[in-house]
Amino acid sequence: MENFDIGIDLGTDSTIIYFGSKGIVLREPSVVAVDNSKKRVIAHGKEAQQMLGRAAPHISVIHPLRGGVISDYVLAEYMVRAYVRKVCGSRMLRPRIAISVPSGVTDVEARAVIEAAMGAGARHVFLVEEPLAAAIGAGVNTKRPVGTMVVDIGAGATNVAVVSLGGIALSDHCTTAGNTFDEKIMRYVERKSTLLISQREAEALKRSTASVFAPDPDAMGQVRGKNMVSGLPQEISVSQVELCRLLQDPVRDIVRVIRNVMELTPPELLADVQKHEILLTGGGSLLRGIDRLIAEELTVPVKVSSNPQDCVAIGTGRAFSLIYEGNRGLVDAQTYQHI
Ligand SMILES: Nc1ncnc2c1ncn2[C@@H]1O[C@H](COP(=O)(O)OP(=O)(O)OP(=O)(O)O)[C@@H](O)[C@H]1O
Ligand SMILES: [Mg+2]
Repeated sequence: MENFDIGIDLGTDSTIIYFGSKGIVLREPSVVAVDNSKKRVIAHGKEAQQMLGRAAPHISVIHPLRGGVISDYVLAEYMVRAYVRKVCGSRMLRPRIAISVPSGVTDVEARAVIEAAMGAGARHVFLVEEPLAAAIGAGVNTKRPVGTMVVDIGAGATNVAVVSLGGIALSDHCTTAGNTFDEKIMRYVERKSTLLISQREAEALKRSTASVFAPDPDAMGQVRGKNMVSGLPQEISVSQVELCRLLQDPVRDIVRVIRNVMELTPPELLADVQKHEILLTGGGSLLRGIDRLIAEELTVPVKVSSNPQDCVAIGTGRAFSLIYEGNRGLVDAQTYQHI
């Protein structure tokens, strides 16, 4: 009988599913739209995302995850079930699901993830700590007795860990990540020009123009929004220099968390980290210059993995092959034992 194993990266911004030989088979926003008058879900994923900021007052568009953890249990379970069903199609087999959780989640937060996966019809659930999954997905041989520092900068959280001998030696996290950058940009534009912009506009400006290291004095980007005074649509220019100044504080929060983990890392592992590279994963690591800023602040080489947004999903999927090899990072959700 074919083993039907899927890996899920349940992220604040997006949910990605990895399915054995096929690789990544689903990539959808972690969003659900609810009709409050009928008390039922009317859309999920891309369709629900289209409704953000456009829906009628009786419709709420909700992100079931916040800061990397589930904040709405019912909708998270609905969403995972819908995505797993889409991947499984009419197959009768119930999948084994490996699903990522941030390192340092509470039992209650982990339980919510397990319930969501069980509710989606899993035959067996395994939890994989996000930085370990990120390292596996980035192609690191995590079983070697060599320390690798992984920094996953997502939308709702940044997870920092030193991975060695198949497990996580130490870790820390913070909720400063991609969403924080967007919110900073939204508030700045509002202060500067009394212009209200959507998070989508702020994110687009971040991707197209923002840099947090050595900004180009000539680089400019445009954002469109609604002027709060005139009530009319308006477009303004924002320079890369402004954005660089604006994003220093949140980026330095992330640097502080990395520094804390380095300070607590035993000397042998720290020597490994310094000899190799800090590995950046997660969509937030695509912010221009963030690798160079971290490298300069901590005097350690830094590398952004290829396809950083996919690493956690790939790692959860590949974690199945490691299940019987004594990986401390994998947790059997039925027994709650590390295996
Ligand atoms: N080119 C880019 N430049 C800057 N930021 C980017 C870029 N591409 C994606 N991002 C940001 O990456 C974030 C999404 O990353 P990712 O998919 O890793 O998050 P997630 O896994 O859903 O969230 P989390 O891990 O926090 O639960 C968003 O904030 C997005 O704006
Ligand atoms: Mg993530």
